[in-house]
Amino acid sequence: MKDMKWWQKTVVYQIYPKSFLDTTGSGQGDIPGVTKRLDYLKTLGVGAVWLTPVYPSPMVDNGYDIADYTAIDPSYGTMEDMEELIAEAKKRNIRIVMDLVYNHTSDKHKWFEESKSSRDNAKADWYIWRDARPDGSAPTNWRSIFGGSAWTWCEERQQYYLHTFAEAQPDLNWENPAVRQALYEAANFWLDKGVGGFRIDAIVYIKKPQEFLDGEPDGADGMVSIHSMIADTPGILDFLHEFRREVFDGHDIFTVAEANGVEPEELKDWVGEKGAFDMLFEFSHTNLEFPDGELWCHATGWKPELVKKLKEVLSASQQATAENGWYPIFFENHDQMRSVRHFFPDDSDPKITSKMLATVLFTLRGTPFLYEGQELGMDNVAWDTIEAYNDISSHGQYELALEEGMTPHEALKVIHRYSRDNARTPMQWTKGRQAGFTKGKPWLPVHDDYRNCCVESEALDETSPLLYYRKLARIREAGDAAGVLQQGDYTELLPENPDVYAFRRRFGCRQVVTLANFSRYEVIYDAKKIEGAELLVSSQEGSAKGVLRPYEAVCYLMENAKGGEEK
Ligand code: NOJ
Repeated sequence: MKDMKWWQKTVVYQIYPKSFLDTTGSGQGDIPGVTKRLDYLKTLGVGAVWLTPVYPSPMVDNGYDIADYTAIDPSYGTMEDMEELIAEAKKRNIRIVMDLVYNHTSDKHKWFEESKSSRDNAKADWYIWRDARPDGSAPTNWRSIFGGSAWTWCEERQQYYLHTFAEAQPDLNWENPAVRQALYEAANFWLDKGVGGFRIDAIVYIKKPQEFLDGEPDGADGMVSIHSMIADTPGILDFLHEFRREVFDGHDIFTVAEANGVEPEELKDWVGEKGAFDMLFEFSHTNLEFPDGELWCHATGWKPELVKKLKEVLSASQQATAENGWYPIFFENHDQMRSVRHFFPDDSDPKITSKMLATVLFTLRGTPFLYEGQELGMDNVAWDTIEAYNDISSHGQYELALEEGMTPHEALKVIHRYSRDNARTPMQWTKGRQAGFTKGKPWLPVHDDYRNCCVESEALDETSPLLYYRKLARIREAGDAAGVLQQGDYTELLPENPDVYAFRRRFGCRQVVTLANFSRYEVIYDAKKIEGAELLVSSQEGSAKGVLRPYEAVCYLMENAKGGEEK
């Protein structure tokens, strides 16, 4: 293996700044709050922080509707705060990674304001405009990702514009070279500020098909998900290679792009030396409950049978990035429910399951991405009314569920499970008021269980998820197993076992074997492959070879047999 890059050896921590730490009493987190917690992040082995958008925004989609790519929203602080964060992080060997949202802008961006003003202004074709059909209806029957038509009528221009997401997020027209140049310039602005990389939002949607055609309806509203009509349109890679050349090449940074719908076998075209990015978030493991697409109300919920599938897709992603590219390992982000509910039944204990999953996160091949609060085992919420939810997608999906014939009670249950607000409740720092997140009224309620699940209590509890995450970070960073965990190859073990995800990492003269029991039952396994191995780490005290207790994960370290032969 060639020399490793810094970002392949480190841990990336994702921060949703609005929910991280409020230093002003406004009820919303801010950039100085992130700076204040850099030392905390260091205890988790973090070498890069991915900040979700902090740019000026009307906040229709909490910052993913950007009104200016090269400034800071006043609710988060100032450009000086941002510069201070970058500098303070650098002192601690942490790099700041910005979120580039380049499929769309806010409808309050000055580019869109100009574009919509007439059909012949200088930015007239910076967005995607189409005439109405003869009966005045939208050009196609595409449903936006958040629900409702993907087209909105503009009185001023007497045309419809396309939006893959909310009405307030018009899609940019990437076919126009001037649009692409403007986007590259904005990214270069942040490189000049010294950022360590980019996470690139919703990238699979930037290229649209040549012809806009109706699709076969997939819901009671007579519409079809826009995702199935435009994602990963041929020709997209040409844009992305240009993006790489114009912005990323030649910098010591990393790029990770969000690419829902790209399959593990396609990864080779997207990542690596010949690909467009260093890493790609593909969602094959988090989408298992959505076999037929996007509607939350059609999802299956978590079932123990899905463990087999989970193993398969994780292995497929590991294999797809074995020779080319690199895998960003993640189980949570700001769009997903909390992982302690995602992959485990409702009655399981987050303090136990979070440690089990952490073991997998830190021992797979790739860079672990940790989402704020995951290290505490933070759990989902379940609020009484739909009005209590802030997430725009939750509201759209609730409406869709009603249209599909669900009762309000049933629809709310769906939101309880899938709402993105599950991941967005304030970070739980202390046992004190509002979990130490704010001195004001938090923009989203703090989770009821915060006294039990917060940094203050977990830092003192030897068995807590937080201390376990810290331990895993140390093991991956230095010591006998570090080389294997950072560089070793991957082989799945026990592929037929329906409950246990097991794999071996091997590098030089050593190997590490991880065994993770996803079931509520004790599992007996054949321990021949780990004869003579020493226990490296386990998620529960008192592990014994050959037996895994419910939701237990173990890792064994061993020397290879002479001559590097496998046992
Ligand atoms: C993906 C982001 O992660 C999500 O939060 C956002 O709503 C959409 N892209 C639209 O930008």
